[in-house]
Amino acid sequence: MAIRIDGKAISAQIREEIKAECAAFVAETGILPGLAVIIVGENPASQVYVRNKKKACEEVGFHSVVYELPEGTEQGELNALVDRLNTDPTIHGILVQLPLPKHLDETEVLLRIDPNKDVDAFHPYNVGNIMIGDYRFLPCTPAGVMALLERTGVEIAGKNCVVIGRSNIVGKPMAMLLLHANGTVTVCHSRTKNLAEITRQADILVVAIGRADFVTADMVKPGAVVIDVGMNRRADGKLTGDVDFASVEPIASAITPVPGGVGPMTITMLLKNTLTAAKKA
Ligand code: GUN
Repeated sequence: MAIRIDGKAISAQIREEIKAECAAFVAETGILPGLAVIIVGENPASQVYVRNKKKACEEVGFHSVVYELPEGTEQGELNALVDRLNTDPTIHGILVQLPLPKHLDETEVLLRIDPNKDVDAFHPYNVGNIMIGDYRFLPCTPAGVMALLERTGVEIAGKNCVVIGRSNIVGKPMAMLLLHANGTVTVCHSRTKNLAEITRQADILVVAIGRADFVTADMVKPGAVVIDVGMNRRADGKLTGDVDFASVEPIASAITPVPGGVGPMTITMLLKNTLTAAKKA
């Protein structure tokens, strides 16, 4: 039976460390790390995420501001707000909650965020830095996965690491971080042939495809470490991951549950990036 990797407990531990580091930084400099979060429209899932981000900031002693803009906000208004926050000395991190309403251009707004305040690490400048292994800001979800592996004592060097999913937010940067940690990395996606054959080679399997209970026991090598980035809502309203937990848990050596695995780590890494940004400012 696998060890359950407790993302809530590990997250709480790291947040305590950030809180202490923040207090020391404030005592030394008088500067309060500040995060601005922009949300446009009324996406209920996004509203929950944004609320949690604000609460997490308050818990570690950061300054945080949430800008809730109406659905009909125009590109020019959104750009102008980003421009203003870029030059606001009390704000060290800027996060534009995605997805944006259809009439707004995500790329345009993400490009506009000062790379020094880009705590999501979505700006091409920071994406490029990730490619070359210069980690000022780590993308929050992959960084959270790395922290879970590290704090669980999972060795990555020389291991076969398989990532399912190739999104810009998770799959691609995840592969890069595992590669920098000296893993042998394979990235699979919707067009991959013989997927199960490849995933069965994985010592470390990271799943981020957004399909409920997609990875079943026959796709997993006995003793593998399985990290589930998925967050899917079942018909009955329950949250479930991309991994069929019930069938995979008995054969894995370690596994993250959903909820309570990767989820709590994402905001924790956002806090870490915000503190890094404040220290660099
Ligand atoms: N929407 C879903 N995940 C994220 C994230 O990590 N950052 C932002 N900005 N929006 C998201």
